[in-house]
Amino acid sequence: MIECIGLGLSLGGRTILSNLKLTVSDGERIVVMGRSGAGKTTLLRLLAGLIAPSEGSIRVGGELATVAGKVRMEPSRRDIGFVFQAGALWPHMTVAQNVLYGLANLPRAEARRRMTEALDACKMGGLALRLPQQLSGGEQRRVALARAIAPHPRHLLMDEPLTSLDSDLRSELLQLVCEIVRSYATTLVYVTHDESEAHVIGGRRMRLENGYLVIEGSA
Ligand SMILES: Nc1ncnc2c1ncn2[C@@H]1O[C@H](COP(=O)(O)OP(=O)(O)OP(=O)(O)O)[C@@H](O)[C@H]1O
Ligand SMILES: [Mg+2]
Repeated sequence: MIECIGLGLSLGGRTILSNLKLTVSDGERIVVMGRSGAGKTTLLRLLAGLIAPSEGSIRVGGELATVAGKVRMEPSRRDIGFVFQAGALWPHMTVAQNVLYGLANLPRAEARRRMTEALDACKMGGLALRLPQQLSGGEQRRVALARAIAPHPRHLLMDEPLTSLDSDLRSELLQLVCEIVRSYATTLVYVTHDESEAHVIGGRRMRLENGYLVIEGSA
């Protein structure tokens, strides 16, 4: 579970988020929409603990994770899988190594099994030994997705994860995300500009507007 209480953030003298309240329960799906520059990526970065807010606090799994001006629980301790808007694979690591990185705390055989399972699910099993620069944009996005889901995290934060994929692959991977959320009671916060993706993900729908999170109801 993730809870935001009165979150506010100003950057460069500009208010990006104001008095944001949000609770995402275990197994709940939230879709966040809003125009470019509305603060969607910034919100995910706050939830992950990559940045601290100017006001308010965040609890992750009941623990006080962030308070104004300070990240108390490091991103790596939050049991969060993050799919970054730009993919953000480690360029010097192969596809397999990128996915294994988040599985380092598991016994070797189990880590390899999870890596294979995640890459196969994302239709990337055949390219495990490639470097990111040897992949297309869509293939890189699929590796980023595999890397985020492989550890079966309690929370998944996804920032437009399926951009630049064709519609068949997109709907297959959307189903995969929904299945994972169901199987592991994962908390999902999913950012997209795409109505049809939002519809498939379902759950509660929100929009960021002028720094405020507007609740638009359930899909
Ligand atoms: N480090 C920073 N310093 C100052 N302003 C920033 C910083 N990071 C982001 N911003 C600004 O905060 C606003 C929100 O950015 P954010 O990346 O969260 O938008 P977004 O909703 O994800 O947009 P998009 O749909 O284009 O991805 C933007 O106006 C951006 O320019
Ligand atoms: Mg963004």
